Amino acid sequence: MLDRLNQQPADALLALIKLFDADPRADKIDLGVGVYRTDDGATPVFAAVKAAEKKLLTEQDSKAYLGPEGDMGFVHALMPYVFGAQDPSKGGRIDGMQAPGGTGGLRLAFALAKRAGINRIITGSPTWPNHPQILADLGMEAVNFNHALPDGTADLEALRAAVANAQEGDAILLHGCCHNPSGIDYTPAQWDEIVTIIADAGILPIIDLAYQGLGQGMEDDAAGMRKVLAAVPEALICYSCDKNFGLYRERVGALYVMGRDADETAKVLTNGHILARVNWSQPPDHGAAAARIVLEDAGLTKQWLAELDAMRDRMREMRDTLAAADNRVAGLDLTAIATQNGLFSILNLNKDQILAIREKHGVYMAGSGRINVAGLTRGNIGKFIEALADVAG
Ligand code: LMR
Repeated sequence: MLDRLNQQPADALLALIKLFDADPRADKIDLGVGVYRTDDGATPVFAAVKAAEKKLLTEQDSKAYLGPEGDMGFVHALMPYVFGAQDPSKGGRIDGMQAPGGTGGLRLAFALAKRAGINRIITGSPTWPNHPQILADLGMEAVNFNHALPDGTADLEALRAAVANAQEGDAILLHGCCHNPSGIDYTPAQWDEIVTIIADAGILPIIDLAYQGLGQGMEDDAAGMRKVLAAVPEALICYSCDKNFGLYRERVGALYVMGRDADETAKVLTNGHILARVNWSQPPDHGAAAARIVLEDAGLTKQWLAELDAMRDRMREMRDTLAAADNRVAGLDLTAIATQNGLFSILNLNKDQILAIREKHGVYMAGSGRINVAGLTRGNIGKFIEALADVAG
């Protein structure tokens, strides 16, 4: 019977990791999968996380099950950063559960929406390829609108039209910050408009917040989402600690639910618990426990936030350097990269150019032309600009 299954291609983004590893060139450049890199090209464990892990190793006295909701100490310790230090639960209307990474949070959010009778999710395009893939797997429909204008800013007109055409019972998926793959975030004024149109349309916001702290800062990166939450009765928030705690392979994330009142939130979360139980039963503990220890310790929290600041500053420097090289690369507009946020931006290269830059110069980027800005360093950015000029010109 299993022979009825067709061969599937490897995930294109994750396959790039293996292609890059297999390339023997010493000066190859990895701008593929979204992991942060230092100016030496390394992805070290955060010092604050390392210290927390040491403490965990010494102090943890049991590995008995916690339940489908995972480590609620972690879930609650994160809330002041996500929802604001002032009444983070909004009078008990917001609560959450741990999930295996941001993907686990998204899976729960979409499946909860489906359980609530929602079938259509209005989604900007391009988006992270796993968004439509999860929706398709759940038998849900992604209703696309254009996200990015050619000048590297957000296409608000397309969003307005998509929401105007929304049907009763639709949801909208929004990237809270550091849009993946374009780096094109909404301005504060655009968020104000989005808040109004979403609230007027009565659609359910599902917000993917996977890069908090890596765009403009912890508070600024959550500001748009918080405005949405202040204006709507219900929302789902999918959170990832992959990047802002550097916990990628530990799979640390959360799903937060904002209901009309605390009772509704608790009821929705019981559905989340069942969905967790039938999918992964309980989330992995180690990474979430380490993040909780960081958040419970003022000294480690300070260290963690300083590490995040340094990452953000380094990526900003790379963005500025790239944008300043605009006049050296004919045929590509690099200037908007300086105004975009987070790990990613999209270069307007065609498939042949993306293949040529890989084969000729050892530069690996996603097939969409997405680059991981964090893969650039003071040491390799000059070579990257020359490679770009060669293939784009
Ligand atoms: C990315 O977009 O590169 C990251 O979110 C990693 C992933 O799982 O795709």
